[in-house]
Amino acid sequence: MKRFRTRLIVALMAIILIVLTVVGLVIGQIVRSLYVEELENSLEREANLSASIAEEREEGNWEALAQNISSQLDVRVTILNETGEVIGETEAESEELDNHFGRPEIEEARESGKGSNIRYSNTLEAELLYYAVPFSYENYTYYMRLAIPVERINAINWLIWGTLIGCFGVALLIILYITTKVTNQLTKPITQATKTANELAKGNFSARAYGSAQDEVGQLTRSINVLAFNLESVTKENQEQQERLETLINTMESGLVFINSRGEITLMNAYCSRVFEEDTSEWLNLLYYEAMDEKEIIKLIQKIFLTESRTSATVQMLHELEVRFFHVYGAPVLGENEELRGIVLVLHDITELKKLEEVRKDFVANVSHELKTPVTSVKGFTETLLDGAMHDEALSRQFLEIMWKESDRLQDLISDLLELSRIEQDYFELNRTRFDMSSTITEALRLLESKAIDKHLLLTSRIDTGIYMDGDEARIKQIIINLINNAIIYTKEGGEVQVRLFEEAEEAVLEVEDNGIGISPEQLPRIFERFYRVDKARSRGSGGTGLGLAIVKHLTDAHGGRIEVHSRKNEGTTFTLRFPKSRNMEEEEFTNS
Ligand SMILES: Nc1ncnc2c1ncn2[C@@H]1O[C@H](COP(=O)(O)OP(=O)(O)OP(=O)(O)O)[C@@H](O)[C@H]1O
Ligand SMILES: [Mg+2]
Repeated sequence: MKRFRTRLIVALMAIILIVLTVVGLVIGQIVRSLYVEELENSLEREANLSASIAEEREEGNWEALAQNISSQLDVRVTILNETGEVIGETEAESEELDNHFGRPEIEEARESGKGSNIRYSNTLEAELLYYAVPFSYENYTYYMRLAIPVERINAINWLIWGTLIGCFGVALLIILYITTKVTNQLTKPITQATKTANELAKGNFSARAYGSAQDEVGQLTRSINVLAFNLESVTKENQEQQERLETLINTMESGLVFINSRGEITLMNAYCSRVFEEDTSEWLNLLYYEAMDEKEIIKLIQKIFLTESRTSATVQMLHELEVRFFHVYGAPVLGENEELRGIVLVLHDITELKKLEEVRKDFVANVSHELKTPVTSVKGFTETLLDGAMHDEALSRQFLEIMWKESDRLQDLISDLLELSRIEQDYFELNRTRFDMSSTITEALRLLESKAIDKHLLLTSRIDTGIYMDGDEARIKQIIINLINNAIIYTKEGGEVQVRLFEEAEEAVLEVEDNGIGISPEQLPRIFERFYRVDKARSRGSGGTGLGLAIVKHLTDAHGGRIEVHSRKNEGTTFTLRFPKSRNMEEEEFTNS
């Protein structure tokens, strides 16, 4: 903007300078010619007067006459005779002067009766205005020449130029002041617009130019603002979309990897660090086969690069504590002209699914195994009976009793399985009522009393009365029976089993303690699994299938309760169950009464 202003000022000054110079020259010329004309006129009159004085003279002392005229008129006087010789001169010795017929004013006077000339005089060393007229003396033509210095013209010229320079100076100041004001007014909005444009170029789209002028600059300002607004909204939209996409990619529960056509990893979402158990953000821009260790994944990527077709595989990865399974799906990313731009990988953790599959397989194997034993034995005894044993009454009775026992076992097993699958179903519902837990437990104890006595066990109880709970009474009873049953089975003869019920922190706490065979710490976490038995032979001998605790666990969960087990091998086991006493129900009752 500075350059614009200086250029404007320089241009204006140049114009003014030229105009003033021309004006100065023209005025100077006019003044000079007016002055010279005036001077010439007065000199003409003086010359004519001097010539007439000279004509009337009788004796010819020309020097004296010249001196006389000169002193009266304050001019230089030169008198020439008919041959051009100087006969009277006021400013020099006449004899030293050459013939004057060659002087332009004399030549002119000889031709037209008067002559004038402005010229530098060597004699006086000054510029003089000469005026000459002829006059007659004793029938000869003499010449009278007057001259005055024209130095006043120069003085006037100086005056004119001085005035002009002064005017120029004043004009300069005024122009400087005005142009600064005007250019400021003109350039301010332009400066503003430029600043805004620069901000936009830097990426600051919230910048705006201010100015309401209706001229071109105002239009420019408005256009820049519209441009800025459009840029801002477009980038905002882009940003939002980008953010949405980023959030989606980073919150998805699968690993996402993008590898460009050169094999460099260009995108990895946050989940990838869980898949690879490494800080995968450092993998960006690395070659995939340098960053990754998993050979199977590298092979899969290579295959996609080669075949340009979709591929998937299940990959095992050794994580710190366990082996995890990932389903890796890879697809080529093709550009508009079908050229390969890269590949995209999606890694999905299927460890839980795999586990479920394992459980299902185990379950089928277990069930088959459990069913096979009684069925084989029933089949075997039936065959023996058919082969002839049925004719021996005592033997056939013994066999039939065994077969009856085995089928009973089969029935138990099947009903347990049905029970478990019912409980595990999503729509399994408890038949909730509010019941007295103390009396439920007392009932269960009564049912198992005889069994304890048969095994010579001491079955004791410490039941706090008046403990109510909201739940399915039959199921709770099933839980208690299962636990006491286990305690009786897994405690040697002469041992003791104690059942306790009390209230603690708004919870009903049920404890079943025995001093039986106990469970080793390695086995402890597994006892709630289906079909899990610590000592298979002994458990089966006692009719167990390993489903009891699985059912207990499921039912406790369904009631919102918790189970804890403390056990020491050969010392005894304590099962502690905590059930929430439904507070809502109590409140309801309170408000109803
Ligand atoms: N009180 C206990 N003391 C020692 N071991 C126990 C006790 N309760 C359970 N166990 C162990 O846990 C295993 C699983 O018990 P669970 O009740 O599920 O099966 P089970 O008693 O063998 O068969 P059932 O399905 O007939 O109950 C048992 O086989 C036994 O080894
Ligand atoms: Mg059991």
